[in-house]
Amino acid sequence: MKNFIAILILLFFITNQIDAQETKLTKEERLEWFKDAKLGIFIHWGYYGVKGIGESWSMYHKKISYEDYMSQGKGFTAENYNPEEWAKLFKKVGARYAVLTTKHHDGVALWDTELSKLNVKEKTPAKRNLVKPFVQALRNQDLKVGLYYSLCDWSHPDFDVVFPRPNTKKEYPQKGQRSLSKWQRFVKFYKGQLKELSDAYHPDLYWFDGDWEKSSEQWRAQSLKDSLLAWNPKTIVNSRLKTYGDYSTPEQGIPVVRPNGAWEFCMTMNDSWGYYPTDTNYKPVSQIIRTFVEVIASGGNLLLNIGPKPDGTIAIEQEIRLLALGEWIKKHEKAVFNTKAGLPYGHFYGPTLLSKDDSKIYLCLFDSPKNYISLKGIQNKVKSINVVGSNQQLSFERNGGAAWNNIPGILRIEIPKKENLDSNVTVIEVELENTLKLYRGHGNAVELN
Ligand code: GLC
Repeated sequence: MKNFIAILILLFFITNQIDAQETKLTKEERLEWFKDAKLGIFIHWGYYGVKGIGESWSMYHKKISYEDYMSQGKGFTAENYNPEEWAKLFKKVGARYAVLTTKHHDGVALWDTELSKLNVKEKTPAKRNLVKPFVQALRNQDLKVGLYYSLCDWSHPDFDVVFPRPNTKKEYPQKGQRSLSKWQRFVKFYKGQLKELSDAYHPDLYWFDGDWEKSSEQWRAQSLKDSLLAWNPKTIVNSRLKTYGDYSTPEQGIPVVRPNGAWEFCMTMNDSWGYYPTDTNYKPVSQIIRTFVEVIASGGNLLLNIGPKPDGTIAIEQEIRLLALGEWIKKHEKAVFNTKAGLPYGHFYGPTLLSKDDSKIYLCLFDSPKNYISLKGIQNKVKSINVVGSNQQLSFERNGGAAWNNIPGILRIEIPKKENLDSNVTVIEVELENTLKLYRGHGNAVELN
């Protein structure tokens, strides 16, 4: 009988394990929505907007003392914070996800964490959890939820910093942790905060930052990633968890060479992440749209940053840029969504996109073309060519090449009428017969004439 029960118990564990393995999603499966997202909105919201200074770094670079930096909390009111409006705006712009700084390097949490008193509910006139309604609002608009979390924490007493800081122990209740080393306590702390965020909000994406201060082993990166996936099996993680991220996160400088795998380019609209009213060096709308086009043409997403004011409103300069990008996206929707990275270098001078079924090529024109638009190395016959967002069909002819030797000639496409050129980026749709077949040769002698 005993043996029988033991066998039953064993069977129970084995089947459970098989179940767990079967339900475990692969990285590609977890990344599915992300690879099609194209646009995300990054939100840097924190104390730093009160004085309009650099997020956390102003303290690190000793431009402001720790005490003065933290005194900004008194002006962080969130009195006009309307996450529903934010989410509606993001949706209108065409974003598929948004990422909020739940805790920047300064250590201030935007939710009512039980692990530190340094949170907006305790310390600011906002007096409430600001993450919860944000998550709810995104979900109401069917947007994916991204939570930014800085691993380094320049307020935590167990995390050493390079600038003068008062004793912050009273802000961090650490009952029964005396026997632990400093670093063990800190690991327990950030893992605890991440568990709070995971349990309460089940984020679709974790956006880590500040991993550079310690090694992968110190961050316990592997076990942290395992825990995140155990808590939320579908979640994805950016590359700043040392080598344990699911996708790469280039920042500010647009990649010149296509990154491998899934990726996202994060960029500010001016030169600051947070609200910084004296920074008026805003990128023109055309640059933002061009950047977006270049990024999606290389298979990435743009994570475009805004820095809301301490009262929760979005500066007009930022709203204008979001809306302008949104208008462009709406007009060119079919080239933006349901597409993937475009042709390899050499076929067209400018970014291109391919429909997912490989039956259409989208050519993106940054400037007004002269004489004709040329496309090289396309073996397929072409069905039709039109200007996206207008009804104009473009005539075309093929010239040169040696079709009988599989060397396609140049496709010469008529220039769109002036009124059909978009003031930012014009998109030309080339509809192919059958799926794309490229000529990638170096050019040989034509042996049979
Ligand atoms: C950098 C900065 C940080 C900012 C982040 C956004 O890592 O340290 O302040 O939040 O970039 O990508």
